[in-house]
Amino acid sequence: MANRYQESARSRSHYPLFEAESRLHPLRERYHATVAIDFGTTFSRFAFSLNSDGNQDIYLKKDWGDAYGHLNCLDTPTCILLSPEKEFVDFGFEAAEKYAALEDGKDQTYYFFDRFKMMLHHNEGKLSRETLLKARNGKYMRALDIFSKSLEYMKDKALEVIRDRGSRKCTASEVRWVVTVPAIWKPSAKQFMREAAYQAGLASPDNYSQLIIALEPEAAALDCRQHKLREFVGMITVDEAFVSAKTQYLVVDNGGGTMDVTAHEIQEDDTIKEIYHATGGDYGGTKVDEEFQDLLDKIFGKDIMDEFRSSNPSGWLELMNDFEFTRKRAAGGAMNIRIPESFLDLLRSKYNRNRDDDGSLLNCIVRSQGEGIKILKSRVLSLGPDIVKRLFKPAIESIVSHLKALLKKRELRGVEQLFLVGGFSGCRFLQDRIREEFEHKYKIVIPDDAQLAVVRGAVMFGQRPDCGRAMPF
Ligand SMILES: Nc1ncnc2c1ncn2[C@@H]1O[C@H](COP(=O)(O)OP(=O)(O)OP(=O)(O)O)[C@@H](O)[C@H]1O
Ligand SMILES: [Mg+2]
Repeated sequence: MANRYQESARSRSHYPLFEAESRLHPLRERYHATVAIDFGTTFSRFAFSLNSDGNQDIYLKKDWGDAYGHLNCLDTPTCILLSPEKEFVDFGFEAAEKYAALEDGKDQTYYFFDRFKMMLHHNEGKLSRETLLKARNGKYMRALDIFSKSLEYMKDKALEVIRDRGSRKCTASEVRWVVTVPAIWKPSAKQFMREAAYQAGLASPDNYSQLIIALEPEAAALDCRQHKLREFVGMITVDEAFVSAKTQYLVVDNGGGTMDVTAHEIQEDDTIKEIYHATGGDYGGTKVDEEFQDLLDKIFGKDIMDEFRSSNPSGWLELMNDFEFTRKRAAGGAMNIRIPESFLDLLRSKYNRNRDDDGSLLNCIVRSQGEGIKILKSRVLSLGPDIVKRLFKPAIESIVSHLKALLKKRELRGVEQLFLVGGFSGCRFLQDRIREEFEHKYKIVIPDDAQLAVVRGAVMFGQRPDCGRAMPF
């Protein structure tokens, strides 16, 4: 059933989507819960607090991946599956699983979208309600519908979890919603998220303050400030970290799609002042995936890989997902990636071999690549430590050069600390390189579960919107 917003939007063919919204209504209403949704390029998550608790504890869903063997997963992949009729089928792990299980050929009729958040970054100049997004099957759907269906899924899951916690049934109208966006996005992209959230039924435009669009690094900064001693790598207390008002620091959000940096100064009244505009670029963890794709093209041949990507998108997804989960654990050793059966099928047909020859065929293909690339158990691609490091290098060096250039700015001379948040900040190679380059001059602070800093801070912002900067989006 269409919500009120969807109905009114339909009747307005020229809704002023990107009109500047400068009002932020007084945030004084009381809600049953505060829910923050961090809609990431690669992973999405939500967190919430219950006003009825009488405390400000923040809860997270931790079983996203249980059914798929990924225990204690605090987020779910940002991907969505729709039927050939463009009806919502599923989101996250379930969507990826159902897509991979589609029978041969069916994956060409279903619509599967992943990593689509980056499109708002790249396409923002021409962004409109009619902007289209390309699915894996090569067909298009309206971006606004894809974002809103995804947010709707997160909304429903959050309400379900709140109910399961024994709380009374809670509806969307009883929640203050916070949706986070990268600080480096243009206002049009931020406004697009507000529009998508309305369409998803999170809140109504009539109650502007019920939905807060918060900037990811600002939310992360709040989280960093509130953390307890034991939760920081390197045992730095928050008191120690924030010696006094006027402390200046950078929040570096290394995510999947983007690196997003903001510079803050703590004010006497404990609010945050931005001392330099947000900067960053599209060098997140997905740059490592791109390097891996280039390596596969080199090993197996670009023609074969292109054919695999287009004829078997779900098999390709399986391969990349395995890479994603393996590389999160990369800490200096070799990396082993399982080759999907569907790719082996393609190789057998190209080289005219049968199943018993898999080992010798693969060994023969990779042998020409020299040291460092091996085949294990006839179906596992093993990359040696030097090759693995090379995959991470371009993303890491882009991040380091960006920070080096930024920290030379006159306005940032007083910066004392670097807070590294976002999932990619959990990468050992990145941590080591940043320490090597900056530790002599700055205190480096990395919270545990760095990918959660944004969503936890966003709940804090929803609880006390006056503790950060009011964000007029
Ligand atoms: N321990 C780890 N080592 C290496 N990479 C990691 C690790 N943990 C997460 N990542 C990478 O971090 C990225 C995900 O980070 P995060 O969840 O913060 O991003 P996101 O919120 O999806 O993206 P964005 O904030 O750019 O929209 C992925 O590319 C993932 O592979
Ligand atoms: Mg993020």
